[in-house]
Amino acid sequence: MKIIVITGGSRGIGASAALECARRGLGIILTYNRNPQAAQAVVRKIDAVGGQAVALPLDVADAGTFPAFRDTVLQTLTSTWGESRLDGLVNNAGYGIFNPLDSVTEAQFDGLMNVHLKGPFFLTQALLPLLKDGSSIVNMTSATTRVATAGVAPYASFKGGLEVLTRYMAKEFGERRIRVNAVSPGAIRTELGGGLNAEFEALLAGQTALGRVGEPEEVARVIATLLTDDGAWVNAQNIEVSGGYIV
Ligand SMILES: NC(=O)c1ccc[n+]([C@@H]2O[C@H](COP(=O)([O-])OP(=O)(O)OC[C@H]3O[C@@H](n4cnc5c(N)ncnc54)[C@H](OP(=O)(O)O)[C@@H]3O)[C@@H](O)[C@H]2O)c1
Repeated sequence: MKIIVITGGSRGIGASAALECARRGLGIILTYNRNPQAAQAVVRKIDAVGGQAVALPLDVADAGTFPAFRDTVLQTLTSTWGESRLDGLVNNAGYGIFNPLDSVTEAQFDGLMNVHLKGPFFLTQALLPLLKDGSSIVNMTSATTRVATAGVAPYASFKGGLEVLTRYMAKEFGERRIRVNAVSPGAIRTELGGGLNAEFEALLAGQTALGRVGEPEEVARVIATLLTDDGAWVNAQNIEVSGGYIV
């Protein structure tokens, strides 16, 4: 059985990706930060569709905890599946802050950098010994790296860094046949940055060629494809999933 880790699997796109991957027969280790109950609800949904999942706590902003997290992942692989290796990793956990450039604080900057760039870098490094040759890594970036959107400068800059890091990972891990891709959502209906009110949703829908915001499941299906053999020849790409955001 193929087994993957999805960070930020308790809500939003990560939760949808966990469910979609489970439907496609993958075993799921999903992580949560502040919402253990939401994570357990996702585990129950996966059980209900005949899949198998375990939820583990992880603060992606705290790289010092990653070696211990790797040990916990190994124990979980052994106790739940009788396995010792992983087939995939989705660096999905994240949050947003809307704040114009001239008022961003150093603490806000550091917090966003830790979650969106430093976290994926060192978590991938920590889990690399557990990843099988031929496995798949997906990094969640954002359409805000392509279109400058006022109020999200640090967030978008770190997502841009993650996009570059994706190509470097693909290059360096290629010798182990590990594929690395970025998925870049447009406006998706989740609780990110406080969620969408009617006015904001209408604005984003108007900026999208298909005339609406996306649903987490629509991003999840692309993530799942990249994690399975359907995506076996896709590598080092940044795939925007946005319905055509500001084209
Ligand atoms: N929604 C969009 O329109 C959109 C667009 C472009 C890119 N994205 C990206 O897609 C990814 C998922 O976003 P989403 O919209 O699904 O957000 P969401 O609904 O707010 O869910 C965020 C998830 O990340 C977890 N998380 C947040 N901070 C964390 C931390 N420090 N350590 C570990 N986990 C943490 C949360 O866990 P807890 O709830 O357990 O704390 C939750 O599971 C993010 O990387 C985001 O930047 C989203």
